[in-house]
Amino acid sequence: MSDLLTVENLTVSYHTKTREVTALLDVSLSLAPGEVFGIVGESGCGKSTFSSVIGHLLGPAGQVESGLVEVAGHNVLALSGKTLRAYRSNDIAYVFQDPMSVLDPTKTLGKQYRRLLGSSDWKQKAIDALNHVGLGDHQRVLSSFPHQLSGGMAQRVVIAMALMRMPKLLIADEPTAALDASIRSGVMELLTKWCSEIGAAMLIISHDIPIISRFCDRIGVMYAGRFVEIGPAAEFITSPLHPYPIALLASEPGHEGEDGVLQSLEGAPPLSISRDRACAFADRCAHRDDVCTSDFPAPVKVGSSTVSCCRIDAIHAEATR
Ligand SMILES: Nc1ncnc2c1ncn2[C@@H]1O[C@H](COP(=O)(O)OP(=O)(O)O)[C@@H](O)[C@H]1O
Ligand SMILES: [Mg+2]
Repeated sequence: MSDLLTVENLTVSYHTKTREVTALLDVSLSLAPGEVFGIVGESGCGKSTFSSVIGHLLGPAGQVESGLVEVAGHNVLALSGKTLRAYRSNDIAYVFQDPMSVLDPTKTLGKQYRRLLGSSDWKQKAIDALNHVGLGDHQRVLSSFPHQLSGGMAQRVVIAMALMRMPKLLIADEPTAALDASIRSGVMELLTKWCSEIGAAMLIISHDIPIISRFCDRIGVMYAGRFVEIGPAAEFITSPLHPYPIALLASEPGHEGEDGVLQSLEGAPPLSISRDRACAFADRCAHRDDVCTSDFPAPVKVGSSTVSCCRIDAIHAEATR
């Protein structure tokens, strides 16, 4: 089966009055139809930039320097005007961290669903969609203004708006980050269940590695504008390969050592991504060697994963000795 999403050699930078930054550097990724792919990594690594380019949503400061983005046969970066609007309403949908950024605060949700659906049977469609996301009290939801709902309910309303259009690809950028920890898993479950029912692929960005590893088929770890590891979620959560996700996971609650202390990952991702021939993670990496500051780590296959680390064989040979 051909890929639903193909991103090839994508490089994106931002140009503002005060600075120029590279946000993505030579990034490639393919997603199969219906696949659930999770992106993890600390803030500033390029995750939101990657998800924005797919909807051709980079603001005026963003510039695609090179690369290809193809979704369901559309050459996305070449779309404009009518064809871009048709692509955004038929092929893709977004769910963002803050549901209030999508909802109109001055209109009831009933009015917003009616405007979105247009047709005379909008109410039945809205009720079906609300049932799908577990909001059975339709009358109350449809007559409410956005601020009258809890954050979790508002996010469910937005998910219903996104998925009732039956997109081929749903892009969810930290959809549970603003929600109470107790309801995150439920929201993830309804997202993945509904996507699977309509055959939509999902690209989901999250800081919550344990949760997304449970719901995704594959995970990609971004660091300084590149994927440093891409592999099956089940293997990733138990045995990540690249030193960055190894350190990220070791700093997660539940991974305390025998002394009960959690290993923290010192430092932060670089504010500006260098295009020098070096590994961007080198200055935070416990396995750093000369090669890390003289070579770009090319992606290599390790089992069913792809890892960008020049020292991957040496590190894992040390670990198994
Ligand atoms: N609109 C913008 N203007 C200027 N720089 C931006 C803009 N959006 C993102 N950036 C920069 O691009 C880099 C990647 O950001 P982003 O894609 O938001 O990362 P993440 O989602 O992983 O936190 C960061 O250095 C960020 O400061
Ligand atoms: Mg982001």
